[in-house]
Amino acid sequence: MTELDVEATPSPLVDLDRERYARFRIDFDAVTGFGHWLLAARLAAADVLPVRGATARREEVLARLGAAPGYEQLGEALLDILERTDLLRRHGDRLTVTDRVAEVAGLAEDDAIDAAATALRREHPEAAGYVPLLVACQTQLVEVVRGERPANEVLFPGGSPDLVSAIYRDNVQLDFYNRLCAAQVHEHVAQFLRRYPRSYAQVLEVGAGTGGTTGPVLDALADRAERLRYFYTDVGPAFLRLGRRSFGATRPYVDFARYNVESAPEEQGFEPGSMQVVLASNVLHATLRISTALRHCHSLLKSGGILVVNEMTSRLDYNTLTFGLAEGWWRHTDDEPRIESSPLLDVAGWRAALGRAGFVDVQTHAVPGRGEQVQTMFVATASGGTGPAR
Ligand SMILES: C[S@@+](CC[C@H](N)C(=O)[O-])C[C@H]1O[C@@H](n2cnc3c(N)ncnc32)[C@H](O)[C@@H]1O
Repeated sequence: MTELDVEATPSPLVDLDRERYARFRIDFDAVTGFGHWLLAARLAAADVLPVRGATARREEVLARLGAAPGYEQLGEALLDILERTDLLRRHGDRLTVTDRVAEVAGLAEDDAIDAAATALRREHPEAAGYVPLLVACQTQLVEVVRGERPANEVLFPGGSPDLVSAIYRDNVQLDFYNRLCAAQVHEHVAQFLRRYPRSYAQVLEVGAGTGGTTGPVLDALADRAERLRYFYTDVGPAFLRLGRRSFGATRPYVDFARYNVESAPEEQGFEPGSMQVVLASNVLHATLRISTALRHCHSLLKSGGILVVNEMTSRLDYNTLTFGLAEGWWRHTDDEPRIESSPLLDVAGWRAALGRAGFVDVQTHAVPGRGEQVQTMFVATASGGTGPAR
């Protein structure tokens, strides 16, 4: 991770507890380091890595891993991680394990992993929510990569979102970005309703999922509820049931509907040019073609309406070691220049993609810092007008 300048001016939109955020970064790095060790321990235990003192060609190591179709890129990315963290070392075209792998040999046993994970959570509380998903993914990694176990059974055991949603709970970084989204959506809706007080503002959220971003956004919009229609959408019907349970009872202005951002809105019952705001939080990278998804978001908007995109903008090993197990992580086409070994775009990549999809005045908001941004919120205006359109 890059060093952050926690003294820099915070975003004008929302406050950030900078000391807590600095602790979060340290704790998150510790969790990621644990992931590197687990990865080495599991691959060594599965006889994928060469034994100490022996060497093997990279292709031999990959052949021993035996990635099923769709997981070849993950296999390559895992070896890259081990090399980058000096758990594997390259000598010409051959690889050896370093002495550090001996230190992690004990982590092959479930009891040892549980004990280490418990200690990690205690010592690094700001990132404790990231640990259970990491352990679940790494302990079942080899089976998933070989196609012997569906990734969904690991990420969502028994259909439960608990492992993934633990990450979102009381997470200083995700909370900050969710509040940024909420402030931005609220500002645009309020501006629109000031200009057209008899109208209704229409907001559509793409890929609302378990509602991690929706909650803060709906809270912020509570003072505009009488003149609001909010569409909570997702491609997965299970998420709509979840959303209805969380938000349906108390908020009659929220509609729940299936919407796949990879297909045109009019084919799915949504009128083009009908929304003041489209919100997409941590979803567009998961689509086959970002360019197509952005065009569909643009088409939903009235001219002058805004698209709020909250996205990871650098590759993190934690994500490769967890969400990288989902086949969807690797299914994208290269319509836009993705960050290597990931489906993500960097900030410049998003700016260019938004411009090509017809957006103008692209603004970025992020935790203040130097170097590459881990997460960024983009606000882009649908071309063809200025200010909130009717
Ligand atoms: C990582 S989750 C993010 C959930 C939520 N937006 C948040 O930030 O808490 C990604 C969500 O995008 C949804 N998704 C994936 N592909 C989609 C598509 N093509 N159209 C609409 N939603 C999609 C998934 O079902 C999932 O709920």
